[in-house]
Amino acid sequence: MALLDWIAADQDLRLEGAAVRLRPHRSADFPEWAALREASRDFLQPWEPTWPNDDLTRPAYRRRLAAYAQDMDRGAAYPFLIFRRGDDALVGGITLSNIRRGVAQMGSLGYWIGRPFTRRGYTVDAVRSVTGFCFSRLRLHRVEAACIPTNMASQAVLRRAGFQPEGLARDYLRIDGVWRDHLLFGLVSPTAGD
Ligand SMILES: CC(C)(COP(=O)(O)OP(=O)(O)OC[C@H]1O[C@@H](n2cnc3c(N)ncnc32)[C@H](O)[C@@H]1OP(=O)(O)O)[C@@H](O)C(=O)NCCC(=O)NCCS
Repeated sequence: MALLDWIAADQDLRLEGAAVRLRPHRSADFPEWAALREASRDFLQPWEPTWPNDDLTRPAYRRRLAAYAQDMDRGAAYPFLIFRRGDDALVGGITLSNIRRGVAQMGSLGYWIGRPFTRRGYTVDAVRSVTGFCFSRLRLHRVEAACIPTNMASQAVLRRAGFQPEGLARDYLRIDGVWRDHLLFGLVSPTAGD
């Protein structure tokens, strides 16, 4: 990714972690994004909603970005890509979605990392960056995440990032074509009660 990309648009949605930096998707990300998702397909698919047949095509990516732009405009969701500091390689993605205001003031977190980049702490770093954004910039009160009980990697990420397990939700999300129970995790703003 060109250095100028970091100086250009969406300045206010650039997040800096210790080992990674995050920003929203851009159309120029398509080749690297599609290549990483394709290379990681077998690793990711068991833990994600079923990928549509055309998911890794440019028209589908264009539609994805249009939906993301609408969500961000409405303050409903913030999808970020995760880049490694140093060489700016794309390593994964993280999305804050389903943002609820009013009496709730909360959002839900989902993430993935490309298979070649696992177990280097990039996801924990990204989760910490986004939760910081949630509490300081969006002024949310609470962030939630959910994972299948056998997803030890995701549970480790959430615990390491300070989330607490809160219980089991039955048939919570349809993952890889099957409704699956999920462990719910939550993180409350450190300034809660102020
Ligand atoms: C879950 C996922 C995002 C973790 O990514 P990652 O970048 O490898 O995670 P990190 O390197 O930040 O590791 C964080 C913790 O998870 C642990 N971990 C990572 N992979 C693990 C595995 N396969 N089994 C057990 N623990 C694992 C690490 O050891 C680390 O724990 P520690 O700090 O206590 O040592 C990645 O495995 C992934 O994309 N999985 C498929 C998609 C998915 O499950 N998404 C989440 C759905 S809820």
